[in-house]
Amino acid sequence: MRKTLTIDPAEIDRQLALCDQIHALLDQRPGQKLAFVDTYGCQQNEADSERLRGYLARMGYAFTDTEEGADLVLLNTCAIREHAEQRVFGNVGALSHTKRRHPQQILCVCGCMAQQDHVAQRLRQSFPYVDLVFGPQVLWQFPQLLLEKVTSGKRVFATEDVPGTVAEGIPVVRQNNLKAWVSIMYGCNNFCTYCIVPYVRGRERSRQPEEILAEVRQLAAAGYKDITLLGQNVNSYGKDLGLGVDFAWLLEQVNAIAGDFLIRFMTSHPKDAGERLFDAMAACEKVAPVLHLPFQSGSSRVLKAMNRGYTREGYLTLVDQLRQRIPDIVLTSDVIVGFPGETQEEFEETMRLIETVQYDALFTFIFSPRHGTPAEKLPDPMPKEQKSANFQRLLQRQNEISRARHQRYIGKTYRCLVDGQGGDGRLTARTAGGRLVHLEADTELVGTWQQVKMTGASNWALFGTLV
Ligand code: SAH
Ligand code: SF4
Ligand code: F3S
Repeated sequence: MRKTLTIDPAEIDRQLALCDQIHALLDQRPGQKLAFVDTYGCQQNEADSERLRGYLARMGYAFTDTEEGADLVLLNTCAIREHAEQRVFGNVGALSHTKRRHPQQILCVCGCMAQQDHVAQRLRQSFPYVDLVFGPQVLWQFPQLLLEKVTSGKRVFATEDVPGTVAEGIPVVRQNNLKAWVSIMYGCNNFCTYCIVPYVRGRERSRQPEEILAEVRQLAAAGYKDITLLGQNVNSYGKDLGLGVDFAWLLEQVNAIAGDFLIRFMTSHPKDAGERLFDAMAACEKVAPVLHLPFQSGSSRVLKAMNRGYTREGYLTLVDQLRQRIPDIVLTSDVIVGFPGETQEEFEETMRLIETVQYDALFTFIFSPRHGTPAEKLPDPMPKEQKSANFQRLLQRQNEISRARHQRYIGKTYRCLVDGQGGDGRLTARTAGGRLVHLEADTELVGTWQQVKMTGASNWALFGTLV
């Protein structure tokens, strides 16, 4: 099995020196150099893109939000479902035209897709204008890889399967000045049979607690109000460190940091969640009253075939334990419809589970076979149309449940973080539980906490007025 590689800080210093070298090279040509970073997939990828931007800023790039006119385009890709991959290939294809207009443009593809052999091969063969391809494990080497591309003029592929790394000290350019992502661990050990993540992100590895706490302290001091701790399964934080620390302990430590901010975290795997976590959530006043607890299927047989490590009953017990401690917890989840071999009756068990649990929001996915995963090879007799009809039914029922759950808010007042402006000119805010609120108010209030009285609700948002 592959091991974790902790990157020597001197190596990161060397990468920063290479950034300065690239800066000097770029300065030989006139004008401000622009980079466009396009991110697909989950928050982990968003967090990675913030580090790639950190490196790019150090190289002297400013940022643009379009590929047109960009000197460097970086696509940070996601491999979780086929649709995500198709979008990336479509966009890479479209970039051939942009590149014809800007022959100097450097086109880089990184992230989870790039770590798959068949994708790297396709990029090599069918997209000759892609200059640099690298996987998530070597993100810390981006300056070195880019310099190699620039000085050699040749295409660079860094997509071998190397051990997962933990690298500290990479500069970060964050996308938001209120909300911040903090990765607490990387990779995944769970090998759910449908999932590509363990193959492209490597084995689970935790950051040292003092590195995480230092980052949160810095964010709190800088005025960040909403901090999300990230990992594919945060509940197994620390198991690899041998320090006797766990995620509940980490929550308590983060909670003790001075400042007026909320703590969120994603994702919790039910097999490693339990009363110790729920007690810590209830006791820590900064921890937001929300839990994303993916159930994936309401059928114990399907859960076993997915290698999820819990049963329907075990999951429902967790929900009870959680609600005993935090009765008004906002509960969200992920579910897959049409896992290979799922019968109609097993799908009905999923329908009954969402009826029992009454989630505030649910992210619903149709099973998408991923190259090299065990589920790809399972017999899958249910016709596409039936899966699609099941999916629609689930979505529709959940929309009704979400709308009903939102009715509870009407007439009550909640402390909300005003976080931006929507397309309609109204401001957007979030409850501590993470529900989206639209309200009419002065844009000066963005970045402040306000008491908001809820006056209306749809299945996806609340409407409110300032108190
Ligand atoms: N680590 C997280 C999930 C990350 S992926 C967890 O275990 O909860 C986000 C969601 O994508 C998963 O929860 C799952 O519902 C969905 N997903 C992952 N692989 C999929 C596939 N092959 N087909 C359809 N949905 C998938
Ligand atoms: Fe994928 Fe399962 Fe790991 Fe989540 S826990 S990333 S679904 S393998
Ligand atoms: Fe996608 Fe990779 Fe995240 S596959 S969901 S970007 S870990």
